[in-house]
Amino acid sequence: MAASKTVGDVLRANGVSRRGFMKFCAATASMMALPPSMVSAVAAAIEKARRPSVIWLPFQECTGCTESLTRSHAPTVEGLIFDAISLDYHHTLQAAAGQRAEDAMHQAMKENYGNYLLLVDGSVPTEEFESHSCTNGHSHLSMLKDAAAGAAAIVSVGTCAAFGGIPRANPNPTKAVGVRDIIKDKPIINVSGCPPIPTVITGVLAHYLTFGTIPELDHHGRPLAFFGQNIHDRCYRRPFYERGQFAETFDDEGARKGYCLYKLGCKGPVTYNACATLRWNDGVSWPVQSGHGCLGCSEPDFWDKGSFYRPLSAAYWGDAKTVGISAAAGAAAGLAAAALARGKQKKAQQEEKA
Ligand code: SF4
Ligand code: SF4
Ligand code: F3S
Repeated sequence: MAASKTVGDVLRANGVSRRGFMKFCAATASMMALPPSMVSAVAAAIEKARRPSVIWLPFQECTGCTESLTRSHAPTVEGLIFDAISLDYHHTLQAAAGQRAEDAMHQAMKENYGNYLLLVDGSVPTEEFESHSCTNGHSHLSMLKDAAAGAAAIVSVGTCAAFGGIPRANPNPTKAVGVRDIIKDKPIINVSGCPPIPTVITGVLAHYLTFGTIPELDHHGRPLAFFGQNIHDRCYRRPFYERGQFAETFDDEGARKGYCLYKLGCKGPVTYNACATLRWNDGVSWPVQSGHGCLGCSEPDFWDKGSFYRPLSAAYWGDAKTVGISAAAGAAAGLAAAALARGKQKKAQQEEKA
């Protein structure tokens, strides 16, 4: 375990050039939305930083979140795992299995008690269903409580770990909940998304590594740097929305011209995530660019809100007529619907806070 070495030590030992290191720092700073002038400060902080021990526990999940992490490109997951963090336990990615893996996890927890970063993906079954999700005979509920006790902070990776996600969807057959519903005495960063954008996962790790603190969070516990704006406000199809030009079906003339997908159920106006700016697959594309509306996958209860192919106005009010038929009326109705939907969302958020 090399958690006690600084990142600079490890980089030098691995023959990483100064140029390669500065490239990593520039990518990290840009991910954290810091100006280029901050790159040297980030470099100095990272070089001196002790490699944090990271323990990643997968619970009731589909492995999509880990799949997403392995497609991170800036910084690469290899870079993070081998140069910047000490990933002491991840039972999907690690070579060890069985007792050796268990031992490695307990050793890391003991040696770094109070200081390690705990990453979790997947929801946690509770009450009479606690035993429905176990590893090596231990329920995930008990594993979470044990691991959380010695963690400096917890990152809930994905909507399942953050809010319960799809396993929690009605009728929630395992009484699944998210990490924040169980652990109340540790800082928790919710990196939601189903799965989350890989760059956002590594960005949060990079922030922790650089500053040794958790980033500023929104009311759902998500890092503001990535979840501070909604999809709609950064969407390149927004001019079509403003002009009331909507695709009516997935294969009509409007769809071919790249018109707004609002009438096809896009939930961008009420969804906070960085897809429209960071995009997916090395920045190649994202759902809306690929012709499909946003499903709202980074929001709590997105699955139960459903209505994936109905416009927000209908989804929230149960009346599709509120989306205008004429182009001009379409924009006005779309704006009104989005504003009302956001109002409803805000009210729910205030109630959640209270
Ligand atoms: Fe899978 Fe989505 Fe849950 Fe991640 S958030 S474990 S991708 S269902
Ligand atoms: Fe983009 Fe969807 Fe907003 Fe239309 S409704 S502008 S497709 S985010
Ligand atoms: Fe999810 Fe919407 Fe992005 S569905 S991946 S938040 S565009």
